[in-house]
Amino acid sequence: MRNRTLGRDGTEVGALGFGCWAIGGEWADRDGNPLGWGAVDDEESVAAIRLALDLGVTFFDTADVYGAGHSERVLARALAGNRDDVVIATKWGNRFDERARTLIAGDSSPAYAREALIGSLRRLGTDRIDLYQLHLSDAPLDEAAELREACEEFVAEGLILAYAWSTDDPVRAALFAEGAHCVAVQHACNVLQDAPEMLALCADQGLASINRSPLAMGLLTGAYGPGRRGGAGDIRATPPAWLQWFGAGGAAAPEWAARVDAVREILTADGRTLAQGALGWLWARSPHTVPIPGFRTVAQAEENAGAMAHGPLRDEQVAEIGALLA
Ligand SMILES: NC(=O)c1ccc[n+]([C@@H]2O[C@H](COP(=O)([O-])OP(=O)(O)OC[C@H]3O[C@@H](n4cnc5c(N)ncnc54)[C@H](OP(=O)(O)O)[C@@H]3O)[C@@H](O)[C@H]2O)c1
Repeated sequence: MRNRTLGRDGTEVGALGFGCWAIGGEWADRDGNPLGWGAVDDEESVAAIRLALDLGVTFFDTADVYGAGHSERVLARALAGNRDDVVIATKWGNRFDERARTLIAGDSSPAYAREALIGSLRRLGTDRIDLYQLHLSDAPLDEAAELREACEEFVAEGLILAYAWSTDDPVRAALFAEGAHCVAVQHACNVLQDAPEMLALCADQGLASINRSPLAMGLLTGAYGPGRRGGAGDIRATPPAWLQWFGAGGAAAPEWAARVDAVREILTADGRTLAQGALGWLWARSPHTVPIPGFRTVAQAEENAGAMAHGPLRDEQVAEIGALLA
């Protein structure tokens, strides 16, 4: 369970990656609605990443747009001197204003893919991106096919090593998988939101299944009990329509909190914390999964990296959880 392969015979990564959305800090759409997780302390983020490295985490997922470039810059600072020991995944597809820290709009043109790639290389302080991911989850198939070809060109030029699509649609993932250097799909998957079709596709095509929101944006950590609310500038406090886990004001949505309660005992058996159990569920679910939990503190980084020592849940625990949530 310790390692996963990106593609059938590509780069090896540890079975746990770290997700760098929250550490981008505050940013918003053009109407001022938060797209970040509130204010962050960059020194704490850097310390958390360095601790993760010490604890054996070598795979980091970010996006150019997280914090309008800030996440990539913080990640670069934290990884300085360790570039060759880590695998960096970033994403493109959204134009943003770095100074105003706002999202502008999606852009699915191959020309913008190249422009965005140059920007990410600069902010990350590197000469290549290990895994370049399309961030436009619902882009039309014909446009995506062009972007796949653009990615093959980037590979030929040595600017990226491999690419993937961040999408929840298996049809879209399969279209990208036709490219020789497509090695993964990034998709939502966690105890509360299984993704059997996508996992079957990954097994069939030899793709790594990179799991975003593996902790249901914090709901599967136990930190969001009754009364706990997201702070100012936190997307969970003014949740957009797609964000089902939290209600207005940032309180956990009661129907989802009840589901967490229903499986808490199984997830926390064997001395695991709830977050560690949620990660163990993903490893048990498929030999291709690479959960990428987000983090904001050194303590969270330590707890999440500690999940590796526990490994996957047992098959009967996964079956029991499936029955309870059915
Ligand atoms: N479209 C896309 O491609 C896409 C979309 C979403 C995410 N992603 C990627 O997936 C990564 C992970 O997903 P996510 O950030 O949505 O959510 P997540 O990993 O499900 O939840 C992360 C959040 O949970 C809380 N947390 C983490 N560990 C904890 C612990 N041990 N104890 C208590 N609280 C803990 C932290 O928030 P608080 O401390 O604030 O509670 C943290 O930011 C992202 O960082 C990003 O890299 C990609």
